[in-house]
Amino acid sequence: MALATPADMTAYAGRKRELLGALTGTVLEIGAGAGANFVHFDRSIRWIGLEPDPRWHDQLDRAAAAHGNGSAVIGGRAEQIPLADNTVDAVVSTIVLCSVADQERVLAEVRRVLRPGGTFVFFEHVAAPGTWTRRLQRVRALCYSRRFDAGCDPSRETWRPIEAAGFRNVDLAWYARRIRFGVYNRYIAGQAIC
Ligand SMILES: C[S@@+](CC[C@H](N)C(=O)[O-])C[C@H]1O[C@@H](n2cnc3c(N)ncnc32)[C@H](O)[C@@H]1O
Repeated sequence: MALATPADMTAYAGRKRELLGALTGTVLEIGAGAGANFVHFDRSIRWIGLEPDPRWHDQLDRAAAAHGNGSAVIGGRAEQIPLADNTVDAVVSTIVLCSVADQERVLAEVRRVLRPGGTFVFFEHVAAPGTWTRRLQRVRALCYSRRFDAGCDPSRETWRPIEAAGFRNVDLAWYARRIRFGVYNRYIAGQAIC
């Protein structure tokens, strides 16, 4: 996919409110972290949070209990989601695919657990265009973020495996956040239908 002109992060935040707020039924959030997305979800959804880092579990358990509707936290990695086939209406991933060990495997698991017609919603930090920024991202990943920031490697071209995963329809937009000295971080956001 060609890199389109990116929108700014205000538009990214608006898209997040719109896409997460529209979800219904049973929603699996992979890499739920501290539960930052609860502010966007409708009260009616049944939320399942998959989080491999046990340090987040107490906080997530409390948030899931406060949300209600049988919401729950489960341990494990998105490369092997501990749910049966065709059991959720939506899967959410926000800044997680940059951290997983195997993006293709995770996307195959996302498709497996989604019901036909279900939605995969993603907001992801991705590789920047241009050699300089890309090099800076690689250095940052090697020296810092892969070890100390949940395994994050922001130099991955995450849009490619999403497009190749076999979803029926992928609707993806680009966003940019200015860091400094004319350097921009790039993000993608959108949804894909199973
Ligand atoms: C940058 S945090 C994002 C947290 C949350 N999604 C958010 O938007 O605030 C990345 C999260 O992905 C989780 N993670 C890392 N590898 C994972 C994997 N293989 N499967 C599922 N989650 C993973 C980390 O434990 C962490 O909670």
